[in-house]
Amino acid sequence: MTDKLLHQPVLLQPTIDALKITPDEAYLDCTLGSAGHAVEILKKGGKLFGLDIDPAALKRAKARLEKIPNVFFRLKKQNFSQLNQAVQSWGLTSVAGILLDLGLSSEQLADTARGFSFLTAAPLDMRADPDLKVTAADLVNGLTKKELNELFKKLGQEQYSLAIADGIVRARRQNRINSTLELVDIVNRAVGRRRGKIHPATKVFQALRMAVNDELNNLKTCLPQAVKLLKPKGRLVVITFHSLEDRIIKHFIKNNQKLENLTKKPIRPTETEIKNNPRARSAKLRIAEKI
Ligand SMILES: C[S@@+](CC[C@H](N)C(=O)[O-])C[C@H]1O[C@@H](n2cnc3c(N)ncnc32)[C@H](O)[C@@H]1O
Repeated sequence: MTDKLLHQPVLLQPTIDALKITPDEAYLDCTLGSAGHAVEILKKGGKLFGLDIDPAALKRAKARLEKIPNVFFRLKKQNFSQLNQAVQSWGLTSVAGILLDLGLSSEQLADTARGFSFLTAAPLDMRADPDLKVTAADLVNGLTKKELNELFKKLGQEQYSLAIADGIVRARRQNRINSTLELVDIVNRAVGRRRGKIHPATKVFQALRMAVNDELNNLKTCLPQAVKLLKPKGRLVVITFHSLEDRIIKHFIKNNQKLENLTKKPIRPTETEIKNNPRARSAKLRIAEKI
């Protein structure tokens, strides 16, 4: 894979600064991805424990990390909602820092077979973890009109949710909706020219991806486990790409008596970073310290 295709770690320097890496201390990267942040944790002398739900990501990360001499790392396929299980399997009782860099990597989004993109023809899958049983096609073909409307409204903040839900229900009476482009076509017909700059299917795809992977619930389940695992003065560092995720983090930090909020306002990427990596555009970094 060329560097151009390799996932560019978002907010790399502020994230590594926030983790305050001390050599030989343990750090948990809950969203290993292509190991962009993990590499820097190792280079600074931290011991790395990494999780991901995607075996393809773990394989890529492992290949990359193995090239760094004299470092300690352990990787595991596990959902971060089951953080406790992973750390128990490693015999870990506490860590000095925990990183969550939410969402998907550029490699996952670019993998045309997985159905995350509305720009390429693929089966309507969207599972980041191939062991999950329910695909986006199952939701699109199985939910009621009311449920689809709720889903697009809540997770996609989609203004035309009802028209799209209606279009889906009518289309699937003819044939099961199996592919990304079939869904795009239905959304286009429902939304027409009413959309401005963004692709008409952006919000629908986002909502389906979040639902298939249960993204918000996983995050909510992970956070209390993460705080418990942190040492005093240990840092919780979270990068979000979506207002619903950011809201969960913001409120969790604010309401948790064991955490001191170190970012009253989230850290945002610079104009230069956004220019070099447009994917960073909506990123927000929040930092909290265990009391
Ligand atoms: C934005 S990428 C991380 C990129 C990484 N920081 C880097 O710089 O290469 C997010 C990763 O988290 C993984 N992921 C998403 N939800 C997860 C979950 N609930 N548990 C574990 N991993 C998850 C995805 O599969 C993806 O590989």
